[in-house]
Amino acid sequence: MTPDHPDKQYLATQQYRDASNLNARGALHARFGTNPYPWFRWVFDQMLSVAPDSARVLEVGAGSAGLWRENLDRLPADWQVTLTDLSAGMVAEQRAALSAPAFDFAVADVEALPFADASFDLAVANHMLYHVPDRPQALGELRRVLRPGGALIAATNGAGNMCELDRLVLAVAPDAATAEWKASFRHPFTLENGGEQLAPFFDPIEMRHYEDGLAVTDVEPLVAYIRSIDAPGFREPEMIAAFTARARDLLAQHNGIIHSSFWAAFSCVWGWVN
Ligand SMILES: C[S@@+](CC[C@H](N)C(=O)[O-])C[C@H]1O[C@@H](n2cnc3c(N)ncnc32)[C@H](O)[C@@H]1O
Repeated sequence: MTPDHPDKQYLATQQYRDASNLNARGALHARFGTNPYPWFRWVFDQMLSVAPDSARVLEVGAGSAGLWRENLDRLPADWQVTLTDLSAGMVAEQRAALSAPAFDFAVADVEALPFADASFDLAVANHMLYHVPDRPQALGELRRVLRPGGALIAATNGAGNMCELDRLVLAVAPDAATAEWKASFRHPFTLENGGEQLAPFFDPIEMRHYEDGLAVTDVEPLVAYIRSIDAPGFREPEMIAAFTARARDLLAQHNGIIHSSFWAAFSCVWGWVN
């Protein structure tokens, strides 16, 4: 499959050609997150609370299958799970990570799902809808492949997610393609505007919140995070060096620890097919 949209082409062949960028971002949260209950465990709790014991489950934009890798110990025996992603590299990572017969895999764009109507009881779109150019088309597809009474869990971030990192970047690069960089972070599908986007397709909508923060004590994972974003203006070594120096200063000013409750305000918007 060749993605037809330039953003999709970039996502499938560069940003998410494999799991390395996603892993750099996950590592920051795994190491410095302040919520002791892991994110993927929490998302799975929500899934268990709505899906029947015997269920067909679809994950779109499943990346490297972290949700499943971290919950294999409690996968219901009668769930059949289909993992999909726009990126063939990500689907290869999924296959390598999950060998149980409960799983199958497909390279698939959420805007054109290769599944029959009413094929699934539960769909999960975890931190991926903000990447999709035509979200109404994607939400229509998710609704189509869900059976009546099925549920979509659409997890995303609050608009203020990691705003301190924004500020750190802007302090170093006030002109360097910051508008583009900010656009990549000011997600078009957020905790604040996600519900209204889901409402034409799902009813009722319910929000469940998972709050997290970061207490960062080391600059290198922050730099890895910034590199993983692959932001225009932040590909040059001088910019990365300036960012590193600024982050070190900030850490020193705050006695070796940068705290923030805003850095990662994850939440979940979800709904049922009526
Ligand atoms: C931020 S990652 C999240 C991955 C995974 N859900 C997780 O939480 O670890 C976004 C994923 O969505 C995928 N993606 C982006 N646009 C997509 C689309 N139109 N259809 C399907 N997957 C897409 C990307 O390739 C990437 O793997």
